[in-house]
Amino acid sequence: MGKKLIVGNWKMNGLVADGLKRASDIAAAAKAGLSGQMVLCPPATLIGAVSAVLQGSGIATGGQDCHDKPSGAYTGNISAPMLKDIGCAYVILGHSERRLYERETDNQIAAKAQAAHAAGLIAIICVGESDAERSSGKAGEIVSRQLQGSIPEGASEKNTVIAYEPVWAIGTGKVASTADIADMHALIRTKAGVLPILYGGSVKADNAQEILRIANVDGVLVGGASLKAEDFIAIAKAAP
Ligand code: PGA
Repeated sequence: MGKKLIVGNWKMNGLVADGLKRASDIAAAAKAGLSGQMVLCPPATLIGAVSAVLQGSGIATGGQDCHDKPSGAYTGNISAPMLKDIGCAYVILGHSERRLYERETDNQIAAKAQAAHAAGLIAIICVGESDAERSSGKAGEIVSRQLQGSIPEGASEKNTVIAYEPVWAIGTGKVASTADIADMHALIRTKAGVLPILYGGSVKADNAQEILRIANVDGVLVGGASLKAEDFIAIAKAAP
């Protein structure tokens, strides 16, 4: 694995003015020289404009979801070719918020990943256990099952990234311990082979360096701290 992947997931945040300002501030810092590969995943309404702002910066753009069909009568949905068309290179799939609020299943996530691959996008497939699953000692079993069900045939290090995001660490300020991250990433490595593996869940400027040094951590998926340009830049600077 070469450069660390530093992915910002803006979730449902950002209007045109603040989104474009944040993207251009991050682009300016990247042009000044950062070692990681940065990816910004704005809400769908901002992807086209953010991609335009990021032109020439070396920063890639990604979507936060896509449909498993390329087009058709699916009101409100966005397809993988549409994301590609407006400048995306990546798409986040199966984020725990979508597994929870949109009831997405492993099968659907695998179908979406296949659609992403067909459109030439890199799928960032998210997995992670809940608080109750960890307390009952089932974290490894749950994550293994999610990996088994949501990585499609044809996945390779060229088109697929895994993101391990323990649900209880997302947006809570609680980070998994270094030992827990190391253990889970080692387990994921045995299942996912050479696919890059990101850690996500309350990654901030002050813990990014430590997390990015853990074995089998190929990058980070950042929510809250990606909404402030200076915080996200500081995380990218922490990449070795
Ligand atoms: P967080 O979110 O950094 O705000 O915890 C991470 C994510 O949900 O991808």
